[in-house]
Amino acid sequence: MSHLLLAQWRSMTADESDLLVKSSQLSAFIMQTIEDISWAGFYWKRQGQLVVGAYQGPVACTRIALDKGVCGNCFTTGKVQIVDDVHSFAGHIACDINSASEVVYPLFYDDRCIGVFDIDSYKLARFDETIVKEIELICKDFMLTTDFTLINHW
Ligand code: SME
Repeated sequence: MSHLLLAQWRSMTADESDLLVKSSQLSAFIMQTIEDISWAGFYWKRQGQLVVGAYQGPVACTRIALDKGVCGNCFTTGKVQIVDDVHSFAGHIACDINSASEVVYPLFYDDRCIGVFDIDSYKLARFDETIVKEIELICKDFMLTTDFTLINHW
């Protein structure tokens, strides 16, 4: 695998560690570089809930319980969730009725899951193994190169 997307992401954000900058840029980067994506963005654990952060796409749910939806499932299990058909996922939260498939990544800081990165598509089974892995590498790079020390509300 060539990891072109990862290389592009790294070169674009090489000298940047600010959370707002990097989370905004990552949402836009995913929307711009990956076809057939309807929404890309963050939910961070804040005040005992998953609260929406930087994103690109239609207006989405603001707050999600830690154990609800695909995002909550990702957060509580700490595992990447790939949902080929959101209508067959019990408890899926439909922020956008046109959503068909989804992938959600857990975001770890100091060995704790502090949020998730969520991507939706209007296409069924949009996220194959190759793209899932590539975005996972980008999410890991994002967490390793972003400064979370100034923010302690997790
Ligand atoms: N579908 C998600 C909710 C977030 S929106 O897709 C942006 C879920 O089931 O957790």
